Amino acid sequence: MRMRRCVQKILAPQRFAAFALPLLAVAGAASAAPVSDLQRQDYMEYCASCHGPMGRGDGPVAAELKKRPADLTQLAKNNNGQFPYTRVRAIIDGRGQALGIHGPAEMPVWGQRFRDEGNNDPQVRAKILSIVDYLASIQEK
Ligand code: HEC
Repeated sequence: MRMRRCVQKILAPQRFAAFALPLLAVAGAASAAPVSDLQRQDYMEYCASCHGPMGRGDGPVAAELKKRPADLTQLAKNNNGQFPYTRVRAIIDGRGQALGIHGPAEMPVWGQRFRDEGNNDPQVRAKILSIVDYLASIQEK
């Protein structure tokens, strides 16, 4: 998706030969994937009430919880600068609890919730991966 959008911008015909390849190389090098509206929408719908609109753990529901929702912009920083994909994915899915990551979780088990909303397993996986990508894109350096 990202490439397609870039390519459309770049493909002004005469310019293509001279500029397209170097620009594509630059686009590929920028590691944080740009966020789609849909990804942000999912985040706002499912996560922002607790984790806040910018992911900082300051959503309107946060004050009512025993445990402060995590600041989701710090996940990479707290993991030696590497965004912890697998761990984050497991936490959102709910398998994090089984792995003992989450303690007494006040956070909903999203894998099950998405299934309850009528999604099949591949759809659930896609939704979770899309949210994980979104989180990867909001990491503070
Ligand atoms: C009802 C409030 C609530 C909602 C909604 C919620 N969370 Fe959480 N989340 C928490 C709380 C509280 C914690 C941290 C405390 C804990 O261990 O239970 C947490 C922790 C996390 C962590 C672990 C961070 C770390 O460093 O260990 C991740 C990742 C996370 N949430 C992602 C999400 C995502 C993505 C969504 C939306 C799909 C979401 N959360 C929705 C309350 C919530």
